[in-house]
Formats: sequence, structure tokens, C-alpha cells
Amino acid sequence: MEKVNIRTYKSSDYEAVYNLWKAAGLYLSLSDTRKELHRMLDKHPELFLIAEEKDIPVGTVLGSFDGRRGYVHHLAVLPEFQNRGIGSDLLNVLEDKYREMGVIKIHLFIETVNAEVESYYQKKGWHRRNDIIMMSKILRTDS
Ligand SMILES: CC(C)(COP(=O)(O)OP(=O)(O)OC[C@H]1O[C@@H](n2cnc3c(N)ncnc32)[C@H](O)[C@@H]1OP(=O)(O)O)[C@@H](O)C(=O)NCCC(=O)NCCS
Repeated sequence: MEKVNIRTYKSSDYEAVYNLWKAAGLYLSLSDTRKELHRMLDKHPELFLIAEEKDIPVGTVLGSFDGRRGYVHHLAVLPEFQNRGIGSDLLNVLEDKYREMGVIKIHLFIETVNAEVESYYQKKGWHRRNDIIMMSKILRTDS
């Protein structure tokens, strides 16, 4: 099967990307509105990657870097394009970008409703952390 093209996100992708995330079953929140997403991209727009086939987004991965750690968010592939290596290609390209930036460690979070995806990451060299309790605090609920 043909390899898909991987490129950086552009603002005109937003609707297609949001629909892709919904179709892939990602949990979406206030942080995924166009405004919040584009605000996040002020810092490292090159870390938001789109896999496209015939100019249509079929996969995404959203990277971010806080100056210390890199993060992997919203790895998602349209159901009809899954199991073609697209998710792996997106992760590899993002990891290479982090390596070029000299990033030491990258993190990702798996929602427990999606726990089966842990084995996917383990095959790619990720390991589960049992020494950390993640805590969150909501500061804002408006858009
Ligand atoms: C997880 C996901 C991004 C993988 O993308 P993909 O392009 O289908 O995966 P690849 O083609 O690179 O890899 C295929 C391999 O991963 C395995 N795999 C795919 N999805 C998996 C899942 N949800 N859980 C466990 N293994 C999975 C396949 O069985 C296959 O294994 P094999 O190589 O041993 O045959 C995609 O299934 C997806 O969008 N899932 C829904 C959203 C999601 O859960 N995202 C992760 C958020 S943390």
C-alpha cells in the first residue's frame, strides 16, 4: 500500500482534524477548540503532524514541548486507514523532531477507557510509569 504524506498542520485543516479525532474515538475537551488549539501552536507549530492521503487528513499526532519534556497528544488514525503503519510513521517523525531538538524524555497519557492501546506503545519502546501519580486542576471552564 502507498505511503501517506506527513506534513505539518495548517489552520485550514481544523474541521477535518476535529472530525478525524471524533471518528477515532478520542476524548475531546475545551482544549480542542480551534482557539485553544491554535494558541498552543504559537510555540511549536512544527510538532503538530498530519498524515494525508490525496490531500485529506487521515491521521494526526500533536506534539508539545514545555522546555523540559516533550509530549505526545492525539495520536489518531481514521478507522478505515488503521493498521497501515500510519500511526507508527507519525510517531517516528515526531520522535525524530524531538531528537533533533535535543529533548531528553517524552511523555504521553492514555485515558483508562483506551487502556488497550498501552500494548501498542510498549511495542514501540514506551514503558508504563508506576512511580508517578498524575494530578490535574481545572483553572477555567469557559471557552
Ligand atoms: C492507536 C492508533 C493511532 C494506531 O494507529 P495505526 O495506524 O492503526 O497503527 P499502525 O498501523 O502503526 O500499527 C498497527 C499495529 O498496532 C496494533 N494496534 C492498532 N491499534 C491498536 C490499539 N488500539 N491497541 C493495541 N494495538 C493496536 C495493530 O494490531 C497492529 O499490530 P501488529 O503490527 O502487531 O499487526 C489507531 O488505532 C487509533 O487511531 N486508535 C484510536 C485512537 C487512540 O486510541 N489513540 C491513542 C490515544 S493515547
